[in-house]
Amino acid sequence: MRIKRAIFPVGGLGTRFLPATKAMPKEMLPVVDKPLIQYAVEEAVEAGCEEFIFVTGRGKAAIEDHFDHSFELESALALHSRERALEAVRAMVRPPGAVAYVRQQSPAGLGHAVWCARHLVGEEPVAVLLADDLIRATPGCLQQMVSRYEGGNMVAVMEVEAREVSTYGIVSPGEERGGLVEVRGLVEKPSLSAAPSRLAVVGRYIIEPGVFAELDRQERGANGEVQLTDSLARRVGAAPFWGLRFTGTRYDCGSKVGFLQANVAYALADPALGPELAPWLKGQVGG
Ligand code: UTP
Repeated sequence: MRIKRAIFPVGGLGTRFLPATKAMPKEMLPVVDKPLIQYAVEEAVEAGCEEFIFVTGRGKAAIEDHFDHSFELESALALHSRERALEAVRAMVRPPGAVAYVRQQSPAGLGHAVWCARHLVGEEPVAVLLADDLIRATPGCLQQMVSRYEGGNMVAVMEVEAREVSTYGIVSPGEERGGLVEVRGLVEKPSLSAAPSRLAVVGRYIIEPGVFAELDRQERGANGEVQLTDSLARRVGAAPFWGLRFTGTRYDCGSKVGFLQANVAYALADPALGPELAPWLKGQVGG
């Protein structure tokens, strides 16, 4: 089944990265030389998405500029025959009309951000990608999900440490089928004692239109925010619902440690950087 549209909620405040995120969106933080949001868009393109909906907020203009032509920069690079740089700058410009921006007027939560895109999604399932969950995988995580998707709702899941359970949406698992876990229930940020498992939802979703009907209620959940997890949970039983244990490594780039780990891992894997970085890194950690 094809998923044509992808939503990128980028309306959060990014408080954990202040002051870096005072005037710059968190999603524009680079891992090596590419902003987080570009990795997410590339993953959606690889999975076959053709329409890209960004749910933005205050101070997010840099994201719009990043996915648009920059005529001055492009002509300067062309003038100096900087072909590779020119290619890198042009690579992310999508066809005219393929990118839409809607504004989340206040950061009322992820569920609220996704709901803000409701008029643009139509009556088809849509992908949701959180750029701060960076997933290094071949094929990409969304592509893995799309190739197993047969309707209903699907989330990417992974086991997390007991101490982390209270910071995630946690799945109540049912039957398992080759990497797919039936989702019988979902709880946002449960205490360890109340958590039905240690299987956590990470930032990749395929959601069917019924979820938007649930989001219409705009009920506040954990942290006083409209949680996407709560609306998904209400669809259990109404539509097929699976979690995919994806293959790959996920970096929580919403946290400083996860972001630094991603930078080190991507740099070490880069043939132009890894050989120089690795010995230095060893020296730093005394290995
Ligand atoms: P986070 O929970 O990481 O929140 O959002 P945040 O505001 O971005 O960052 P901190 O916690 O203050 O440091 C996860 C994803 O959901 C989006 C964010 O932009 C991020 O991509 N989001 C969150 C919204 O679009 N709107 C919201 O109201 C909340």
